[in-house]
Amino acid sequence: MAFFVASFCTSCDLSHFCPMAERIIITIDGGSSCGKSTLARQLAAKLGYRYIDSGAMYRAITLYFLRNNVDMGNTVQVRSALKDINLEFIINPLTQQSEIYLNGEDVEFIIRDLIIAEKVSEVAAIKEVREFAVAAQQKMGSQKGIVMDGRDIGTTVFPNAELKIYMVADEAVRVGRRFKEMYDKNPNISIDEVKANIEMRDYIDTNREVSPLRKAADAVVLDNTDLNQEEQLEYALKLAKKAIKALA
Ligand code: DC
Repeated sequence: MAFFVASFCTSCDLSHFCPMAERIIITIDGGSSCGKSTLARQLAAKLGYRYIDSGAMYRAITLYFLRNNVDMGNTVQVRSALKDINLEFIINPLTQQSEIYLNGEDVEFIIRDLIIAEKVSEVAAIKEVREFAVAAQQKMGSQKGIVMDGRDIGTTVFPNAELKIYMVADEAVRVGRRFKEMYDKNPNISIDEVKANIEMRDYIDTNREVSPLRKAADAVVLDNTDLNQEEQLEYALKLAKKAIKALA
C-alpha cells in the first residue's frame, strides 16, 4: 500500500496539502521568549510537518538531573545519567499537540516551571548534554518534513536546512509575553523574576562555549515585536513556500 505523508504544495493552491511536494527542514532559533515555539508549532501544522521543541529536551534532561541529584559539574555522573534518559515526543490525541515524555512520563507541563527555567541553561551548556541532544535531534530530522526550534538548530543541528529563521523581539515584549504565560500557571510569580530569568538564560545561552546562540549566516531575521501570530505565520509561510519551490 502506498503511503504518502502530506506536505505543503507550492505548485497547487497553498491552502491544501499535496503528497508530491518536496519536504524540507525549517529551523527557528532565537533568544528566550521570542515566540519561536508558537510560530514553529503553527508552521508545522500548516505544512503537515513534525514540530520538535528542542528546548523541551534540555528542560526534561534538567528535570531528570534535579530529581536524581546529578552533580552537573561531574562528567562521570552526567554521562551515566544520560544513559538512563529516554526522550520521546508524542502527540496528545485530545489537543493534537506534541508533548515530551521522559522515560515514559509526560513531563510537558512540569518542565515549564521556573525551577527548571532557572537551571536549564546551565545544563544545556554541558558538552555531553549537547552531544546527546543534538544526536537525537539530527535523527528526528533524517526524513525531513520537520520544524525545529531552539538556539543552535540552524548553526549546529541542521547547518544545511533549506530554511532558517532567526527570531528577535524587544525585551519588554518578550518579558510581558512570558509573564502572562507563567502567571496563568502560577499567580505568585513576579514580572521581575521572569525578566531576570530571561536575561540570565540569554546571557548563558549566548556566551557558552559549545554551540552558543548565534544567527546562522544564511538565516532570515524575523522581528515579531509588532507582529501578531497570524502576521508572523503568514510571513514564515511565504518563506517556506519559496524554499520548497527552490527545490522543485
Ligand atoms: O526554548 P526554551 O526556552 O524552552 O529552552 C530552554 C533552554 O534550553 C534555553 O534557555 C537554552 C536551552 N536550549 C539550548 O541550549 N539549545 C537549544 N537548541 C534549545 C534550548
